[in-house]
Amino acid sequence: MVHQVIGAPVSGEDFYNREEEQRVVWERLENNSLLMLAPRRVGKTSLMHRLRDTSHQNGFLATFLSVQDQSLELGFVLKLYEAVGKLQKADTVLRRLADGPFGSFFGRIKKLGPVELAEAPRDEWRELGNALTLALDTLAGSWLLLVDELPVFVLSLVRQDPTGTRARDFLHWFRTLRQGPYDRARIRWFLAGSLGLDTVAARLDLSDTINDLQLTPLGPFSPSTAHTFLVALGKTYHVDLSVEVRERILERIGWPIPYYLQLMFSELHSRQQEGAAAPTVATVDEAFEELLSPSKKMYFDYWRQRLGEELGRPDDGFANLLLTKSARDERGASLRVLRQALGAQITDPDQRDQKLRYLLDVLLSDGYLVEHEERFVFRSPLLRAFWLRRAAR
Ligand SMILES: Nc1ncnc2c1ncn2[C@@H]1O[C@H](COP(=O)(O)OP(=O)(O)O)[C@@H](O)[C@H]1O
Ligand SMILES: [Mg+2]
Repeated sequence: MVHQVIGAPVSGEDFYNREEEQRVVWERLENNSLLMLAPRRVGKTSLMHRLRDTSHQNGFLATFLSVQDQSLELGFVLKLYEAVGKLQKADTVLRRLADGPFGSFFGRIKKLGPVELAEAPRDEWRELGNALTLALDTLAGSWLLLVDELPVFVLSLVRQDPTGTRARDFLHWFRTLRQGPYDRARIRWFLAGSLGLDTVAARLDLSDTINDLQLTPLGPFSPSTAHTFLVALGKTYHVDLSVEVRERILERIGWPIPYYLQLMFSELHSRQQEGAAAPTVATVDEAFEELLSPSKKMYFDYWRQRLGEELGRPDDGFANLLLTKSARDERGASLRVLRQALGAQITDPDQRDQKLRYLLDVLLSDGYLVEHEERFVFRSPLLRAFWLRRAAR
């Protein structure tokens, strides 16, 4: 039985489908490490948990870690070190290392709090990083390391050093770590995140540091999977969803990622609990409105907040302006309209065009907008409606 889960990664029976995606991932992992960049809420973390939980039958031993809350190289390497330590066999390897010359070093580093970590000598992480390579080199067998939110970490390095040198040094080291020689082991990486790491890398001329990774996208559910998913949820909670109702749900959300389907279903379900009859097309429209009410703001507000956190000022304001322009017209905004809107803020035409390109790159790769018939339009009508009501400026 599949249950309503909103926000947290899903697992077990609540993880629905993604069969084809899993098949492709395991097939590709035979020969490659992978990079999955997809907008937030598409279901990456859930998929990674699934890959970890089914790694054994696919011939790998796996470990999962998220580096979302790391902002220093040392923190990243420590986190990785801990994760590798969780791998059955690596545990003995790391213990052996800890008994050897690295011992006191590991012991000391592990005890540091966030402030002390920040104050550690800038290059200290390299020593630990090299030790990690040695640890991996003693492994035998097939290993899968799943690293979530890598782009967030890289972007934080870029923020701390806008020249990109720190990000480049780190990514170079990370690539070397992936390459190995690793004679005895087969080590694969699955790196994921919701920001356009490829766009950032291209902008900072870092593409060579990630070109060993095979890009593996993750999209919405297919319409037929979306239908069967809704039926399955309905079965669990005794909510009868007719074909017309399901079609209306898909029409309204426009982009059938499981998260939006879960949200719509939960609205319909809570209505039914209040004693109403089976949902109709009109109920779907009511549920849609309800999702956009102020009390449900948190479901989408992340998309607005994130602009501030990731772009900083004044780019977040510019991005909001472009989004607002795109939202105002159902068919989206043309490049000319967007250029004009930004031109009111940035007078120099070269600067304006450069900024426009960059911001559109971010908004496209982060899943806010898509380009359709030379217009920039919201990927999801649901997010578009939210934007018009709650975020537009
Ligand atoms: N395979 C799935 N089956 C059912 N619901 C899912 C699935 N994948 C994602 N979801 C829904 O999407 C939400 C976000 O999933 P998550 O894996 O955290 O996405 P991401 O890591 O891409 O942000 C979950 O809380 C759940 O509501
Ligand atoms: Mg996630």
